[in-house]
Amino acid sequence: MLTIAHVSDVHIDGSARSAERAERVVRHLSGLPGPIDAVLVTGDIADHGTAEEYEIAHGLLRFPYPTIICPGNHDSRPEFRKVLLGEAGGTDGSAAINQVLRVGGLTVALCDSSIPGRDDGHLDEETLRWLTEILASATGPVLVGMHHQPVPVGVPYVDDIRLREPERLEAVLRAHPRVVALLVGHVHTPASTVFAGLPVYVAPGVASTALLPQETTAHPPLDFDLPPGFALHVLSDDGRLTSHARVMPALDM
Ligand SMILES: [Fe+2]
Repeated sequence: MLTIAHVSDVHIDGSARSAERAERVVRHLSGLPGPIDAVLVTGDIADHGTAEEYEIAHGLLRFPYPTIICPGNHDSRPEFRKVLLGEAGGTDGSAAINQVLRVGGLTVALCDSSIPGRDDGHLDEETLRWLTEILASATGPVLVGMHHQPVPVGVPYVDDIRLREPERLEAVLRAHPRVVALLVGHVHTPASTVFAGLPVYVAPGVASTALLPQETTAHPPLDFDLPPGFALHVLSDDGRLTSHARVMPALDM
């Protein structure tokens, strides 16, 4: 059995509020009796993609577990690479940031679904080729992660900026039976749906929580008072993933 913590949409913006919410989640996860086998962070680390925001994020997102982080639509690849990943100059900072983590027989393939300068998502040719190679070489279960959700989830403003051309991802996923689930962020609400015959889990947002049109008339429909959340995914030995959503306790004010 493996347990993967899933954190998303931290949106560090230089404010004390955003840092405090991230810090609460990191501190909570870091203090669990565990074991926690890995942490997956599915994008929107910095709200404006500045180096200063990534410096703050770099200082906050320090887990005592193997950690893998991908960009979201609010992120900037060159600054993400330089500050969060510690990459020196000389590489093409604008290329997709695709990363893999292997832990206890599990492969976590984290794809960069961001499009520089845009809010909707897409997996470019290089990313799809990279994912295909990862899946072809995997010898155990695989979790595929990215920022953007590939299907509508009932929140129109963020469904309008979901993953474009999802059929290309679907073809890759359907060709590789080792994939257990798709783990995403972007929506800022714990939610589950289905894509390519696989479970899709949307992580709670650290920065805020998105509401359904049936719940609010606000635009965008974001609740900034609800507490930050995260998820714990349990991969059982029979290859099933069970996802548990958590919200942080309210602060004593
Ligand atoms: Fe976000």
